[in-house]
Amino acid sequence: MASTSDPSATPEAEPPLIDLRDVTRVFTLGGDSVRAVVGATLSIRRGEYCSVMGPSGSGKSSLLNLIALLDRPTSGRYLLDGRDITALSDDELAAVRNRTIGFVFQSFHLIPRLTAAQNIELPLLLAGLAPRERERRVRDALAALTLSDRATHRPAELSGGQRQRVAIARAMIMKPPLLLADEPTGNLDSASGAQVVDILESLQRERGVTLLVVTHDAALGARAHRHLTIVDGRIASDSVTAPDGGDGAPPPRLAADAADTATAAPRS
Ligand SMILES: Nc1ncnc2c1ncn2[C@@H]1O[C@H](COP(=O)(O)OP(=O)(O)OP(=O)(O)O)[C@@H](O)[C@H]1O
Ligand SMILES: [Mg+2]
Repeated sequence: MASTSDPSATPEAEPPLIDLRDVTRVFTLGGDSVRAVVGATLSIRRGEYCSVMGPSGSGKSSLLNLIALLDRPTSGRYLLDGRDITALSDDELAAVRNRTIGFVFQSFHLIPRLTAAQNIELPLLLAGLAPRERERRVRDALAALTLSDRATHRPAELSGGQRQRVAIARAMIMKPPLLLADEPTGNLDSASGAQVVDILESLQRERGVTLLVVTHDAALGARAHRHLTIVDGRIASDSVTAPDGGDGAPPPRLAADAADTATAAPRS
């Protein structure tokens, strides 16, 4: 009979979604080198909601870009959903990224000459989905983000809040388990920002998406359940607070949090 007390056996263990082991990223420019991420060891399970805060230049975006497979570590290991990605080719990384990771940027990063619908469709095209399936998914995503009447608008013809909702739709169209957001409300007015936060949080709460949000906004950071602080490229603190309802305390309210009933970003 097999022993049931093997201490190395972890029967319940699903691997962490994100598993960084002593990851360092050094940028070399001219003769200078910048240690943007230093010895990051971090494990994040499926469904967690983490904020990443820290001073400007401390390495938050560099860390997020590594997690997003947009960049490679100089040293250290990264296991994404149990798979060591360090040795993958660029094409393999792109394929893993397409299926696994959605990324939302402060400045939206939409393609200017494509319409909202075409921007959202891009990951489906890359994944080779059939036209009817692409059309169905894009239509559903536009409706879910109250953008149906903006489908044929180009980014320049959308408000900031609408642009960010297009970016979220594009990030989530492949239904990835991981959503990374780098200052997603940084370019938005408070009402549009609150609406974007509501959408990100509902994806975490209702679909179990793992959510990592870089922010300079303490009120937004405090809404997460786990809080990472980055200082000089290092993870300086990593603390957990009870999720919404865990200690009976409501999450801190954002300025325009009550705008639940507001329709798509009314400005501009
Ligand atoms: N591609 C690059 N080449 C050289 N140095 C870089 C590069 N990207 C970032 N850095 C440097 O790495 C350090 C960390 O930058 P990073 O963008 O990760 O900071 P951040 O915490 O996101 O800052 P902010 O809050 O201002 O967005 C900075 O000193 C920056 O100048
Ligand atoms: Mg940054």
